[in-house]
Amino acid sequence: MSHTPAIGIHDLSLATTEFVLPHATLAAHNGTDVGKYHVGIGQRSMSVAAADEDIVTLAATAAAPIIARHGSDRIRTVVFATESSIDQAKSAGVYVHSLLGLPSASRVVELKQACYGATAGLQFAIGLVRRDPTQRVLVIASDVSKYELDSPGEATQGAAAVALLVSADPALVTIEDPSGVFTADVMDFWRPNYRDAALVDGHESITAYLQAVEGCWKDYTEQGGRELEDFAAFCYHQPFTKMAYKAHRHLLNYTGHATDEDQARKGLEQTTAYNNVIGNSYTASVYLALASLLENADDLTGRAIAFLSYGSGSVAELFAGTVTPGYRDHLRTDAHQHAVKRRTELDYAAYRELHQRSLPTDGSDHPIPEQTGGPFRLAALRGHKRIYEAR
Ligand code: COA
Repeated sequence: MSHTPAIGIHDLSLATTEFVLPHATLAAHNGTDVGKYHVGIGQRSMSVAAADEDIVTLAATAAAPIIARHGSDRIRTVVFATESSIDQAKSAGVYVHSLLGLPSASRVVELKQACYGATAGLQFAIGLVRRDPTQRVLVIASDVSKYELDSPGEATQGAAAVALLVSADPALVTIEDPSGVFTADVMDFWRPNYRDAALVDGHESITAYLQAVEGCWKDYTEQGGRELEDFAAFCYHQPFTKMAYKAHRHLLNYTGHATDEDQARKGLEQTTAYNNVIGNSYTASVYLALASLLENADDLTGRAIAFLSYGSGSVAELFAGTVTPGYRDHLRTDAHQHAVKRRTELDYAAYRELHQRSLPTDGSDHPIPEQTGGPFRLAALRGHKRIYEAR
């Protein structure tokens, strides 16, 4: 009988934008009590993309250190998950493949289902590695989250990318087989093709998310999953960090556990460090929670972590991972903290100007102002083509 290797996340690298807007600045502009942002939704600041940053530059910036560490020889598949896609036909992953000089003997594809897409990518990657454990799959989640100015959603914007290298014998987290999955046709958040900014019914979305938590847990249990008590921590999708607390309290209640503040905080508070200051990064959010957890928690060796990935519309999945001995030697804590700290703070006027910017659609030549100090930039639009540049 052939031996089935452990498969999961071998490396994780994140990137975020050139700019940041503190919620205190937004509150001062719109007259909101800043406590609503800092405590009510649990957000301190949000990443704002420069004019020459997009999901491709963020994704390439996140993935480049993975290629530098592991090479690209064994990567035959790149999965790019996003819900802020730049093209209706071509995968954003093909640009990243080119910017990183990946081998032509590879398949590249873009996946979409709101914030859930990267989890689909992770599960598909595991299937591919199970078929041939010598192969590795690069899964990238990259999004720029944009809501209307002066709308309730404005405070829950953000932008980031996370690159995951999925392989056999992973150095960070082994993903276990049972998954609880859930789909329901709801209109809590969507973005028609003709719109830049998403449409959202935020309160409906909270209800839909909680319904999905229940559905996932029920299915996870029926699939032979672990008991709730087994988990050392819970990585939730975090459109705003308070949502993780709402979801967890709902799960505790649904499974007959106490829901007091202490219980809800246990296993959650170390998952919010990046989302709290980056904002909603859509597909990347649940994996930013993982990065935050691994980098901030006491030793998690051998412990089980629950993941709850939710994508409006809606599709959700709950699954478990176990943390590999020695994982701390493979973390990128310093680089990740630098990515957050190096951002330049915007004042409200500069943020508003960037928000209102849209790319010309006339097909002529448009150089893009040089703003980002990152390793990749969107240099121009030419003949309806995006021209990227590596530094
Ligand atoms: N101090 C502390 N807390 C405060 C406060 C203050 N001064 N003022 C309000 N709050 C609390 C509220 O009590 C509420 O907490 P609760 O949810 O625990 O009851 C929270 O802050 C938010 O207030 P609310 O009035 O509901 O805010 P809102 O109508 O502006 O909406 C969102 C908030 C999150 C729903 C909105 O920002 C949104 O729609 N975001 C998009 C979410 C999204 O993208 N969903 C799809 C992906 S999952």
